[in-house]
Amino acid sequence: MEQPKKPSSEPTELPTKEGSWLPLVPYKNYWLEVHLAHNTMRVQESFQARPDDTILATSPKCGTTWLKALAFTIVNRSKHSFDEHPLLAQHPQAVVPYIEMPADGRRDLSYIDEIPSPRLLATHLPLSLLPRSIAEQGCRIVYITRDPKDAFISTWHFKNKMHPRSFIGLDDAFDMFCDGFVNYGPCWEHTLEYWKESQARPDGCLFFRYEEMMREPVEHVRKLAAFLGAPFTGEEEDAKLPEQVAKLCSFGNLAGLRVNQTGDFMRKEDMVVEKSTFFRKGKVGDWRNYMDEEKGRKLDRISEEKFKGSGFAY
Ligand code: A3P
Repeated sequence: MEQPKKPSSEPTELPTKEGSWLPLVPYKNYWLEVHLAHNTMRVQESFQARPDDTILATSPKCGTTWLKALAFTIVNRSKHSFDEHPLLAQHPQAVVPYIEMPADGRRDLSYIDEIPSPRLLATHLPLSLLPRSIAEQGCRIVYITRDPKDAFISTWHFKNKMHPRSFIGLDDAFDMFCDGFVNYGPCWEHTLEYWKESQARPDGCLFFRYEEMMREPVEHVRKLAAFLGAPFTGEEEDAKLPEQVAKLCSFGNLAGLRVNQTGDFMRKEDMVVEKSTFFRKGKVGDWRNYMDEEKGRKLDRISEEKFKGSGFAY
C-alpha cells in the first residue's frame, strides 16, 4: 500500500489517503472511511457478543438490504402476518442495525446493547476486523458475496449519489476498485476470509452468492431458515411460507413499496442516502451496461488470481 499522509481534523489522528469519495484509512489490510475506522476500533473494544447473536456480514453493495429483509422476516415469521408486515412500513436497512455504524439520528452505538436477544445484527467488516467476542461466543454468521463486476457498478452508482459533490468517473473509480482502494476493500480478501470460515465452520458460517440467490430465492430462504435454527415445518411448507417470504423480500416487491421509494435513509453535511438508493436495478450482469469487455476481463483476472487454490471462484 502507498504511504498515506496524516490529516489533523480527526480526534485521534489516523493516516489517511485521499482520492476515493471520502478519505480512507489503511487498517489491518483493509481500507475504511475515517469515521468507520474509529468506530471499528471502538467496537473491537466494547462490543459484547451474545451466543445467540446472528451476524449478517456483507461487502457493501452485495445484497445486504436483501439479506436483512430475509433474515428479519424468517426469524419473526410467527409474529407478523404478511399483509401487516413491518417491512411494509420500515426500510429493510432499518430493521437490522450495523454494529459499526450508528443508525441515523444516533450519536453512538450503545443502543445495540439494549436490543433483546436473540439479536440480528449486520456488518460490512471483514472477518478479521470483527470484535473478538463474536468468535468467542461462536455467533452464527451469514455472508453474501457478489460478482465484483456488478458489485463495483453498484458501488459506483451508490457512492456518486451519496456524495454528489465528489463525483468520480467510472475509469478512475474502476482503477481504485481494482487496487482494493474502496471503503471496506479489497473485496476479494473480504470474501476469501468468510469463504474460508464457511469451509472451516459450516454450522457457524453460511456463505451465499447473490447470483445463486437470484436464481433460486425460495431454496435460499429454506437454507437460511434452517441455518438460523428455524426450519420451515411441514405445515409452513404446505402453506407456502418459504415462497411468501421470498416474494415479500423480492426486489420487485420491496423496491415498489412507498416506504422504500420516498424519503432519506440518512442526510448530513453534504452526504445523502435516499431510501430508494438501496434499490437500483437488482440485476445480475448489469455491469455490461457500463463497462467494456476489457474491464470485465480485468476484474475476472484479479478474481481468478486472488481465489486461486481456495476452492472458491466467481
Ligand atoms: P444494484 O445496484 O446492482 O441494483 P446492498 O444492499 O448491499 O447495499 O446492495 C445493493 C444492491 O442490491 C443493489 O444492486 C440493489 O438494487 C440490490 N438489491 C436491493 N434489494 C434487493 C432485493 N430485495 N433483491 C435483490 N437485489 C436487491
